[in-house]
Amino acid sequence: MRFEKLALVASALSAVLSCAGCSSADADPKPLDHEPAGWADEVVLPTVEDLDSDPNILEVNIEAQVSSVEIVKGKPTELWTYNGGLPGPLLRAKVGDRLVVHFKNSLPQPTSVHWHGLRVPNDQDGVPDMPYPAIAPGETFDYSFVLPDAGTYWYHPHVNSAEQLGDGLYGPLVVDDPNEPMGLGDEAVLVLSDIAIDDNGKLMPSDGGGDFGTLFGREGNYMLVNGKVQPTLHVLTGARQRWRVINAAKARYFQLAIPNTTFTRIGGDGGMSERPMTEDRLLVTPAQRADVILEPRPAMGQNIASARWVAYDRGFGTAFNRPDEDVIRFSFEGEAAKPAPLPELHRELAPIDIANARPIDISLTIATGDTGRLEMGINGVPSWKAEHVMAPLGEHQLWTVKNTFEFDHPFHMHGYFFQVVDVNGVAPAVREWTDTLNVPVNGVVRFAVSFDDRPGMWMFHCHILDHADAGMMGMVHVQ
Ligand code: C2O
Ligand code: CU
Repeated sequence: MRFEKLALVASALSAVLSCAGCSSADADPKPLDHEPAGWADEVVLPTVEDLDSDPNILEVNIEAQVSSVEIVKGKPTELWTYNGGLPGPLLRAKVGDRLVVHFKNSLPQPTSVHWHGLRVPNDQDGVPDMPYPAIAPGETFDYSFVLPDAGTYWYHPHVNSAEQLGDGLYGPLVVDDPNEPMGLGDEAVLVLSDIAIDDNGKLMPSDGGGDFGTLFGREGNYMLVNGKVQPTLHVLTGARQRWRVINAAKARYFQLAIPNTTFTRIGGDGGMSERPMTEDRLLVTPAQRADVILEPRPAMGQNIASARWVAYDRGFGTAFNRPDEDVIRFSFEGEAAKPAPLPELHRELAPIDIANARPIDISLTIATGDTGRLEMGINGVPSWKAEHVMAPLGEHQLWTVKNTFEFDHPFHMHGYFFQVVDVNGVAPAVREWTDTLNVPVNGVVRFAVSFDDRPGMWMFHCHILDHADAGMMGMVHVQ
């Protein structure tokens, strides 16, 4: 009897010890259903101090500055950054909070900050001269607005966009919904981008390749995840992760695939989708966001895997002869307990009424300008010659965007979310709020938009920023 009792105490003790993390060989630790502590340390994002103790206000200082950042080991690169890091700091608040940004431009060029996807008042949208001029070197500007919608967003300049983004100016912004269900998985905010640097770690010029570079859209030679080349996530097999993905590249499409793993898309640009949808590949065009759930597993007998970039054919040889490349690596460090089933996700998302919507026809066009330089445009004219689309306040419009090109274009509208009606005649399977939509080669997309509030001049453009700079931009005048 006494012996049995002792044995019991001993086994209880060893259980306690193994739970405390002892790595004794015969310990049998209770499997975790969460990723281990520090699992995403290699992709940790810079943060910034909240200067306001009010829990409903996020107030920060952001300075655009030239800083040295190590992307390639031992070869630091002089980048243009927000607060010295790549990407800029993660701004995170909850829906309904106010964001106050004291911005300082310490760059040698004028700049501005555009809050991509956020329904801000027109004068906070960061487009130069709408109505505030670009922020000159050495000057400051205070942005202040309420965050009206939960979701994943980002911020970037709207002056010389291709050059300034390509040199490092972009950062993530997450607006949380406090009523969101629990159990969506361990979260990582992943800013995907790329950068063009030479063997000495120097940034390559932003106009390389001339007109052909512009036409193709300039992709960098290093793909980055939160500023890192091929970072590793230290994970448990089958543990649930939630990725908030932002494509901050100026031209590159990110199509990701992970062997043995699917992506369950739960949200897009403007927060949650109507319902989740599972796909084998995750496609995020420049400026789009995707909110996805995944439970990565290695192949039998392996303890590593990777999320690979798979060339997406966006026309004219863009996928030709381009091998897959690792973007994110997984190191599997144990087996997770089977996660509880994904909570029921459903968002009531009423369709915009298009019965009496005014039709707007847009063609994405290309021409050789007066100077002999390549010009891209809308309806045959570049942005600097374009007439505005008019929208009386409260009007519903049905936009038809035709692509006359051999290249895809990610079409972005400022200030308003829209609802995709169809792409080449096919309605989307799931309704979402969208601000950036891919218009395929020689294709046609239709979307519905309601200019329900916030009058002003709002921009729309291709988010291949070389295309935008070459003239593929326009304005909606909401009044
Ligand atoms: Cu990311 Cu004009 O936008
Ligand atoms: Cu384009």
